[in-house]
Amino acid sequence: MASGIIHHQLAPFGIEVRLDAAKGLSGDDEDELRRLYARDGLLVVRGLELSLEAQLDFCSLFGPVLRSEGETYVVSNNPEVGILAGAELIFHSDIPYVPAPYAAGALYAVEVTEGVSPTRFASGLRAYEQLSPAQRARVDGLNSIQMRTRVIDGRNRLTDAKPTDNCAVQAVVGRQAGTGRPYLFTGETHTAAIIGLAEADSEALLEELFAVLYAEDNIYDHQWRTGDLVIWDNLAVQHGRKPVTGGVRTLQRVSIGQFAYWDQYPVDRQTFEALKTLVSDVA
Ligand SMILES: [Fe+2]
Repeated sequence: MASGIIHHQLAPFGIEVRLDAAKGLSGDDEDELRRLYARDGLLVVRGLELSLEAQLDFCSLFGPVLRSEGETYVVSNNPEVGILAGAELIFHSDIPYVPAPYAAGALYAVEVTEGVSPTRFASGLRAYEQLSPAQRARVDGLNSIQMRTRVIDGRNRLTDAKPTDNCAVQAVVGRQAGTGRPYLFTGETHTAAIIGLAEADSEALLEELFAVLYAEDNIYDHQWRTGDLVIWDNLAVQHGRKPVTGGVRTLQRVSIGQFAYWDQYPVDRQTFEALKTLVSDVA
């Protein structure tokens, strides 16, 4: 039986699907959800009631969910319930500075005030499509250095690195899992430099790519309502937010990927403690 899932296109990208929680999902529904997710790398479902366990189960449709400490957490501007406070987070993919960053992230709105700061998503898939043939020829085959987070509201540069910090080399043009479609993978937060270019040339090229990636017409702002779930491709789609204003904003986070962060970078057990300190320093 074909899937009966109703969906509509969001602007400028993303798919919103309607699910009837009481009916459950058939195998065809699950295939359809994976197909819709792959189209733009961003899926929105509204009106859910999800425990952390239920969110993990649902997200496992899209890949292996990571259940270890550090991969599920609560993001909140109420410091008693979650991390990251109210600081601005400029565009990024999560943990690009380990060899295998998360494949996808998912946020579920446990409690939000309508009108609170949205999560902003920028599409690397659309950005690559918008490059000129000359720009594509220039970036294809290049690699970048991705720095560990030392600054959350600005760019991390080589000079921000501290002894024992991890960094990773990533392709400037990635390929979407399952479809092979190219996407730009140069996040503003962690991309320190393009390898093989003089610093000024690297900076100029990054600025050119950021201008395409973060053009207003390449950004989907998700306006949160309690019960929303957003799942996005952490590599092909970047995320960020302006400083949090407008009320309560408590989101439950799940990550999908092959390897947990600390499996890839076991010496960095203090990351979340450090991140909390960093946020309280800048907030
Ligand atoms: Fe993030």
